[in-house]
Amino acid sequence: MQTFTLGGDLTVNRLGFGAMRLTGKGTWGPPADRDECLRVLRRAVELGVNFIDTADSYGPYISEELIREALHPYPDGLVIATKAGLLRTGPDQWPVLGFPPYLRQECEMSLRRLGVDCIDLFQLHRIDTKFPLEDQVGELAALQSEGKIRHIGLSEVTVEQLEAAQQTATIVSVQNMYNLTARTAESLLDKATDEGIAFIPWFPLAAGPLAAPDGPLQRIAADHDATPSQLALAWLLKRSPAMLPIPGTSRVAHLEENVAAAEIELSDDEFETLSNAGSAG
Ligand SMILES: NC(=O)c1ccc[n+]([C@@H]2O[C@H](COP(=O)([O-])OP(=O)(O)OC[C@H]3O[C@@H](n4cnc5c(N)ncnc54)[C@H](OP(=O)(O)O)[C@@H]3O)[C@@H](O)[C@H]2O)c1
Repeated sequence: MQTFTLGGDLTVNRLGFGAMRLTGKGTWGPPADRDECLRVLRRAVELGVNFIDTADSYGPYISEELIREALHPYPDGLVIATKAGLLRTGPDQWPVLGFPPYLRQECEMSLRRLGVDCIDLFQLHRIDTKFPLEDQVGELAALQSEGKIRHIGLSEVTVEQLEAAQQTATIVSVQNMYNLTARTAESLLDKATDEGIAFIPWFPLAAGPLAAPDGPLQRIAADHDATPSQLALAWLLKRSPAMLPIPGTSRVAHLEENVAAAEIELSDDEFETLSNAGSAG
């Protein structure tokens, strides 16, 4: 599997795992099948996944708690990225809160829940316009200088917001919605690629109509003896060497299918066909 080095010192396999789906409906409460979710996490690591993305708000807390239960003490080289900056007031509700002392509190709580002394990658889940950006990123920089955070990342940002944040701290990753059919973050992706910043596309499997019978994904998928979901991931991996997809699932069978996508090599022509089909879809 190809690798990417986060922040110059944490090398991970480029196909990671997103742990948001290890929760109940609306990313709220426990998952329907808790034991299967624990198996998913353990199997991910067995298959070579060593980058797991989570957040305090997934559950809330449940995703981080399951990661600890399934994997602590963590194997060497496992990088766990978490986030703070969104409150949870109910299923599917995500009010933004970037009050700096709250970000600090959530970092402290994630350290406790994950059972670590330092969080490998701590991401600001959303920039809160009610507070100065430099205060929000500045709080993360303070936590970093105290040794509680190794690296800082951002989520759902524009190029301008990334550049503003870079005035306050070194940003090693950005996480925006991006997939074959949702590409509004192209300019951010290009900037991340140029600067060696990881681009973590969330919702990577939303292939939508491209997964339809006789669609371009199906056709190329058949050539590779692959599924449309695997092709959507293979397309992402080819799009940029800074791309770190984190497909999420609560089922071992889907996990195995997704991880296998890292072995698919698309030709340049196939990549173009998919790119064109995705932008038309
Ligand atoms: N930064 C942010 O604001 C933000 C927002 C959303 C998500 N995220 C992160 O991004 C990660 C991925 O995003 P996501 O979970 O929304 O989207 P996704 O990974 O594109 O899709 C996950 C969905 O696809 C299904 N699925 C997974 N593998 C499949 C397969 N091989 N075949 C068929 N269905 C499959 C899953 O259901 P099953 O459980 O049934 O497999 C789940 O419902 C999250 O886990 C989270 O870590 C970040």
